Amino acid sequence: MSVVYRGEHRVTQQAVAIKILPPELAVHEELKARFVEEARVLAKLEHPNIVHLNNFTEAGGRLCLVMQFVEGVTFEAKIVQHGKVPVDEALRVGIEVCRALEYAHAQGVVHRDIKPSNIIVRTDGAVKVTDFGIAKMIGNSRLTSTGQTMGTVRYMSPEQVRGKPADARSDLYSLGITLYEALCGVTPFDGENHFDIMQQHLRNRPPSLAKSGGMVPASVEKMLMLSLEKSAADRYPDAAAFRAAIEKVLPDLPRGSDATVAQPSGGRRSRIAPALGLAVLVAGGAGATFLLARQLNKKPAPTGKAATATGQAVKPAAKPESVASRWPTPHAIAGEVVVTDERFEADGVRVQSTARRNAAKVRDAYKNILEELRMFLGGVEIPAARALAASELHPAPLNIVVVPQAMLDTPSLWPKFPMTQGSTYPSRYVPEKGTLFVNDGAGFERNDLAFPVANHVLSAVRSLTTSDILQLSEKFEAYYISKGPR
Ligand SMILES: Nc1ncnc2c1ncn2[C@@H]1O[C@H](COP(=O)(O)OP(=O)(O)O)[C@@H](O)[C@H]1O
Ligand SMILES: [Mg+2]
Repeated sequence: MSVVYRGEHRVTQQAVAIKILPPELAVHEELKARFVEEARVLAKLEHPNIVHLNNFTEAGGRLCLVMQFVEGVTFEAKIVQHGKVPVDEALRVGIEVCRALEYAHAQGVVHRDIKPSNIIVRTDGAVKVTDFGIAKMIGNSRLTSTGQTMGTVRYMSPEQVRGKPADARSDLYSLGITLYEALCGVTPFDGENHFDIMQQHLRNRPPSLAKSGGMVPASVEKMLMLSLEKSAADRYPDAAAFRAAIEKVLPDLPRGSDATVAQPSGGRRSRIAPALGLAVLVAGGAGATFLLARQLNKKPAPTGKAATATGQAVKPAAKPESVASRWPTPHAIAGEVVVTDERFEADGVRVQSTARRNAAKVRDAYKNILEELRMFLGGVEIPAARALAASELHPAPLNIVVVPQAMLDTPSLWPKFPMTQGSTYPSRYVPEKGTLFVNDGAGFERNDLAFPVANHVLSAVRSLTTSDILQLSEKFEAYYISKGPR
């Protein structure tokens, strides 16, 4: 509902975050009251782990909440970018959020919307909780108390699902889900729709972390599961107890503890297209042979941040294949046909091409699409998409592989993609591999990348449904093409 801008104080030059309730929404008394309430709550709170409120103004029907600007990335962006967060880093964020909650709860404030996008990790590592938009001061019943379900379903406690009052322990549950997601790359409960997810909060035990792709010592798992108990009475009694429990398991982490290694193509991105599966792809075209070698059962060579899990405490269930470098290495292309293979680390894109494509040009086209996408998302109706635009786009690394159209149109090469005979597709996006195959046609630099790149970026946003993602990608493609040749 709100838009957050970065601003600068004209006199002091202090960077500020300005959260605005647009005038068209400010006419709704309920929304306006809640926005004012957010400012009141924030004004009461003064803590190193909570964003600081500088001012609140109303000008031309526009309500503005002016906050300290936190230079960094949201915890959500960190999870999206790396697939998972190393255990020690996730637990450290957990400890800092507990500190914020200990303080807020002592002031009688329940946050009620703890989730990765409301936690900002500053560049220097400091952790700040933001968005007290649906927070509630205990004892203040003017706004939503019972009967109305608010918050984001994936992170919502069972009592919130039931529309019962949320208390301090509800925030602990939401923090538990947040940490689970950071460690596994996926939230414990996922589903086709909100109802499905809500049901699971009420009924299902969270799957073990190993089952969800997390690799943590048993003590960490046990500590986390206690925060996810269905009944608030069975969870930690307060944030201080949760923090103490996290601090207690820290020594169990393997030294240097990159026990969980980033996997850019984690479960978060698996909703759109099914996996390509084990790929041995051979495409013939004018005598040229294109080969994607079978790579999945080989362990990719660790590079950069890649690390091997060490220490006996690490669950054996984690298979060595799940240890991958941050950069996707989904395939090796053998044969002289691949003449271009360049990585642009800073831009998060690797370009491979069977023709002598200029990789830097493809990279530029990709960057241009991201920029246009950011502008496009800023204007759409869906708040999650708008928030994405406001928080800058940090998509996971992408491989762009330029291939002959004939290859994209050969059904036997794409066993998991539904295809009708005789149809042509300008691109195929394989989320699990972080790879986008695009045809080597004249148009790809201009138009053919728009849809799949939007797909790649949007499918990382948990709160968007599959149909949101498809519709937004289509609308973006039309918007991009309408802007003419570039
Ligand atoms: N103080 C801040 N400093 C920097 N970025 C911020 C700040 N507050 C919010 N943001 C950014 O704006 C996004 C949306 O802000 P938030 O308060 O969560 O609004 P909403 O109610 O729309 O979710 C956050 O996820 C974060 O990326
Ligand atoms: Mg938010």
